[in-house]
Amino acid sequence: MIASTVNREPTVNRLTALFRERFGSEARIFRAPGRINLIGEHTDYNDGFVMPSAIGFYTWVAVAKRPDRTLRVYSEIFDEEITLSLEELSGPPRRHWSDFIRGVAATLQEAGHRLSGANLVIHGEVPLGAGLSSSASLEVALALALTAVAGVNLSRLELVKLCQKAEHEYVGTRCGIMDQFLASFSEEGNALLLDCRSLEYRLLPIPRNLRLVVCNSMVRHELASGEYNLRRSDCETGVKLLQVHLPAVKALRDVEIQDLELYRSELPERVYRRCRHVVTENQRVRKAAAALEASDAEQFGELMYQSHASLREDYEVSCKELDLLVALASPIPGVFGARMTGGGFGGCTVNLVSADNTADFQSRITQAYLQETGITPMVYVCQPAQGAGEWTGASNKV
Ligand code: GLA
Repeated sequence: MIASTVNREPTVNRLTALFRERFGSEARIFRAPGRINLIGEHTDYNDGFVMPSAIGFYTWVAVAKRPDRTLRVYSEIFDEEITLSLEELSGPPRRHWSDFIRGVAATLQEAGHRLSGANLVIHGEVPLGAGLSSSASLEVALALALTAVAGVNLSRLELVKLCQKAEHEYVGTRCGIMDQFLASFSEEGNALLLDCRSLEYRLLPIPRNLRLVVCNSMVRHELASGEYNLRRSDCETGVKLLQVHLPAVKALRDVEIQDLELYRSELPERVYRRCRHVVTENQRVRKAAAALEASDAEQFGELMYQSHASLREDYEVSCKELDLLVALASPIPGVFGARMTGGGFGGCTVNLVSADNTADFQSRITQAYLQETGITPMVYVCQPAQGAGEWTGASNKV
């Protein structure tokens, strides 16, 4: 299946019918996609570079305005309905899906955007806890839905930043901006090269003879478990220690590998390795962008392997199942590169595969992983998909 060529009408019709049945009215429909990251992992919160691409799995939100200050939200995945008052949204993370709803609504209101009550139904296609950014896709789709019915006007960039803030303050993950940005700004057929400091971005077309194939290890990750935030604070420690000698350094983005080596002895070993991953990963993203623009799939693939090794050895966010998927993929004909994608500790690999070899790749990797682990991986063949918007039948309204 190529996710972006899926006919969406059945999903929309089912969601509309579900909404009508539950709330007795018509709904507007919004959606935002999940993503893979081609390269540039754990660089976004270091002001660095990333190259994500949307996949054709979306979080869908059906919404209609209510006359009061209540949000009634039904999640299809959890088969659960919650009720929230827009007057009482504060509080610490509860480790429940409602944190996202509370967080997005509260953050929008704290920024001065008065929301109105709404009924909502959420339908998620992005696998949860798989490193494919189900969280950001929910936040962005929800923010679009809530602001639309309240008649609130805010720029896409402000919306993206508020969604990221919601995740920090109401979910507890100090994530970077990549996922929310990509969910909002991606365009079909393209990866997006983002400078996470200036937030300038460039679309990079994925050559039509290549496919992005996602292999889900089926090992669930849990970013909020603390490991993610620990990586982030190791990076901040590195910056503080380097600033003693390099006062111009504001983030690891500003550090050259030569400087890191020069002051290596001043950093705890673990902090040094975390920094080395980020510094070298930023270099790889820039090289990968040049390779993609030159249609050099081999070079791009090589950088993906290097990225994976760095995440495994220096950043220590891989796991044995992800390492196995990468090792199993590399000898398969037509594979240019493979690496873990997303936060890590489980989840998925992304594989750059020649279009002609995709079906063969799919069956070989499935068999091999099953044989080694007893687990059947989910394998999705993706083409870069369109970013968030309102569903209007044929396409998104931007
Ligand atoms: C998660 C975060 C992102 C990014 C990646 C790692 O997906 O939400 O901001 O840090 O991990 O690259």
